[in-house]
Amino acid sequence: MAAVLLADKITHVYPSEPGRHILRDVSMQVEQGEFAVIVGRSGSGKSTLLHVLGTMEPLQAGALWLCGTEVTQLKDDGLARFRLQNLGFVFQSFHLIDSLTAVENVRLPMELARLPRRNALTRASELLDLVGLSQRSRAFPSQLSGGEQQRVAIARALANRPAMILADEPTGNLDREAADVVLGVFEDLHKHQQVTIVLVTHDTAICDRADTVWRMEDGVLSLASSITRQ
Ligand SMILES: Nc1ncnc2c1ncn2[C@@H]1O[C@H](COP(=O)(O)OP(=O)(O)O)[C@@H](O)[C@H]1O
Ligand SMILES: [Mg+2]
Repeated sequence: MAAVLLADKITHVYPSEPGRHILRDVSMQVEQGEFAVIVGRSGSGKSTLLHVLGTMEPLQAGALWLCGTEVTQLKDDGLARFRLQNLGFVFQSFHLIDSLTAVENVRLPMELARLPRRNALTRASELLDLVGLSQRSRAFPSQLSGGEQQRVAIARALANRPAMILADEPTGNLDREAADVVLGVFEDLHKHQQVTIVLVTHDTAICDRADTVWRMEDGVLSLASSITRQ
């Protein structure tokens, strides 16, 4: 099975606090089709790791391969294009564009990737259907519940058929019921669409659904459990 993500001894220090190591020799591997969860207390470095893995924070030390590409080989425009084509992001606070409808939000990454407009619209509608929101495609984010907004964000993350979805506390702003619906969407994507997912959370209820659970403690990542998939 091919590794979608391979991280070797990544360390991270924010320039504002030069003496403080936020990530300490973090190594991890994620295979194609794997659902990996990273759990850990608030402040342990989970978001920082996800930002480094998602190339939104520069790699300071160690090595990172995504889809077989060493990310330090990519610069500026090349890195932005790589991210657009290979990675999908889901954030705690959804980050939808308020002035665009649900279907327009989902279509946006495809427009940026210069997919023909008609194809982009068709795919955006299909993706909203996949997350159970085809009836709400013309609604604006302010007209949707938190759980619905997050499902639009998941559809948007899938737009350019990414090799991997990176999700940072995707249920953090949702009540238990909405959180379970959103988790069900991730689980379905994993089981039925073979989407590769790395999900960061402090909600240990998610761990049961994952193939692999990593634990982050004070910048140190360790493997908590792993199931062998068929
Ligand atoms: N931009 C930043 N500049 C300086 N310190 C930061 C920055 N972002 C996060 N930190 C610090 O890094 C540590 C880890 O934060 P974070 O990665 O957000 O942890 P988690 O997502 O597990 O809550 C925290 O102590 C936080 O205050
Ligand atoms: Mg965080």
